[in-house]
Amino acid sequence: MPSITINGVKCDFQPGQMILQVANANGLAIPQYCYHDGLSIVASCRICLGELWAPNPRNNNKLEPFMGGKLMPTCQTPASDGMVVYTDSPKAVQNQKAVMEYLLINHPLDCPVCDQAGECFLQDYSYDYGRGVSRFEEDKVKQPKKDVGPHVYLYADRCILCSRCVRFTREVSGDGQLMILGRGNKNEIDVFPGKPLDNELSANVVDLCPVGALLDKDFLFAQRVWFLKETPSIDGITASGDNISIHHNEGRIYRVKPRTNMAVNKWWITDEVRYGWKFVHSEDRLRSPMRRQFGSLVESDYTRAYEEAVAGLRAAAKAGKRLALAVSPMLSCEEAFLLASFARALDPKAILAVGPVPVSGQDKVFPAGADEAKGFKMYAEKAPNARGVRRVLEAIAGGPVPAFDELVGQVKAGGIGGLVLTGNYPSAWATDALSAALGRSPATPGAGLFVVLIDTLSSPLVDRADVVLPGATWMEKAGTFENARGMLQAFEQAIPVIELAKAEAQIALDLAAAIAEPSPGTPSARAGIFNAADVRRQMASASPALAVFATGVSMPKADVKQEAEMAVVEL
Ligand code: SF4
Ligand code: FES
Repeated sequence: MPSITINGVKCDFQPGQMILQVANANGLAIPQYCYHDGLSIVASCRICLGELWAPNPRNNNKLEPFMGGKLMPTCQTPASDGMVVYTDSPKAVQNQKAVMEYLLINHPLDCPVCDQAGECFLQDYSYDYGRGVSRFEEDKVKQPKKDVGPHVYLYADRCILCSRCVRFTREVSGDGQLMILGRGNKNEIDVFPGKPLDNELSANVVDLCPVGALLDKDFLFAQRVWFLKETPSIDGITASGDNISIHHNEGRIYRVKPRTNMAVNKWWITDEVRYGWKFVHSEDRLRSPMRRQFGSLVESDYTRAYEEAVAGLRAAAKAGKRLALAVSPMLSCEEAFLLASFARALDPKAILAVGPVPVSGQDKVFPAGADEAKGFKMYAEKAPNARGVRRVLEAIAGGPVPAFDELVGQVKAGGIGGLVLTGNYPSAWATDALSAALGRSPATPGAGLFVVLIDTLSSPLVDRADVVLPGATWMEKAGTFENARGMLQAFEQAIPVIELAKAEAQIALDLAAAIAEPSPGTPSARAGIFNAADVRRQMASASPALAVFATGVSMPKADVKQEAEMAVVEL
């Protein structure tokens, strides 16, 4: 394999790779503003320039200065075998200092009020590669602040004109909504009049902006970034399985950012995935178990709520009616397994069905007309785990499970006496058919339909339920989702569960303990504490159809942040 030497470190490379790409792949720090793996290379910022030496085949392969010894952009120069690169030589360091000084000439230096402070390339590179003092005494050019789209503000005087945002709208979202306007020091990023930055991927430009010029309206002044903790997770809103990073502090979510996964979402996420988590902190969250007393729902402790849920479901089974469980496609595979195991323990013939799968519009590929494998795909299916839930339920049922509409039909026909419904959707989800089938009045145990609702948001369904158990959003628990491409991806718990709510998996374990008959002389069974990895192992040994949960689940990896190690050299 060919190799080059970068700052004294020998690195193998694939033919076609640029020097900067080789350095990045090997964890070697070379400053870079305009370069991004997902965009075309323009080599406009000039901070990555290096001193290059290459073997000259016409001179016995003797190492000679490349291109007459000119500094070359490492982001745009292909690596060639035997090349020697210095970005820490006095000449290269002098260039880095000059570029930094130039970029800061008109920069307002308003770090104390800038959202990007703490994760800003200008700050980091000023420290690692900058001069430390400014020699500029003239007036700075002032640029405006602009509202460029529904999610994004532009603070133009912080912009370093790297053009990443412009290239993104041309090459990825494909609508060219951003442009560089003006000449010389009047250059600025702008939108066309009457055509805002308004596309399904718009807020990716905020992540791309290496400085604080493009800002997320939703995160503006919300939190200093050094207070945020990051938890690697998976999109819990759509079927994409996009890899995300949840940024939170003290139990509150502040923002969601993409995590790079070339097999799924590459470097991007849609705005609906980025902002779709708001229901996690909704005022309408169910926060405590409830049970029906004299016809009205009252708050309850869990023990009583579980007792009544089990009693109601048992009474229905004793009355010769079937039990049914609808597992929402918003729930994890582990939850589907534990809930279905509980239902089958109560009634070995319990009907298992997947809850309604919301679909909005049609799948879309960006840029328009791009090949699906090369572009970025947005899914019309707005549930993260319809395939995973079906996979688990079918393994337990030993064959295909009925569609949700079919289950609703059976409820309407009166053949079902006990129904466990799970929701966890980001908004109201009951279909008209379901509301009509459930009717208005709750049942008395053993007669009519007894409903146990496990959900996250309050809705008219709550009024119809006999027992309500508050569930947890995917950000509040761990689990596994199967995305539209059939990939099983695990996610971690980012924040604690709200108030008295519990992960549906924990509720299932508690309910299973509540139905376990205590052996004579011992107290009633104790529920285990939910652990997603343990449940996956249990699933794999329960059925060959679920063996994939032992080995085929990809675990979340946090993005690795690299700190430059380069020593500051004063010239
Ligand atoms: S707004 Fe940000 S991403 Fe766009 S050109 Fe300026 S610095 Fe680069
Ligand atoms: S990163 Fe190479 S010129 Fe900008």
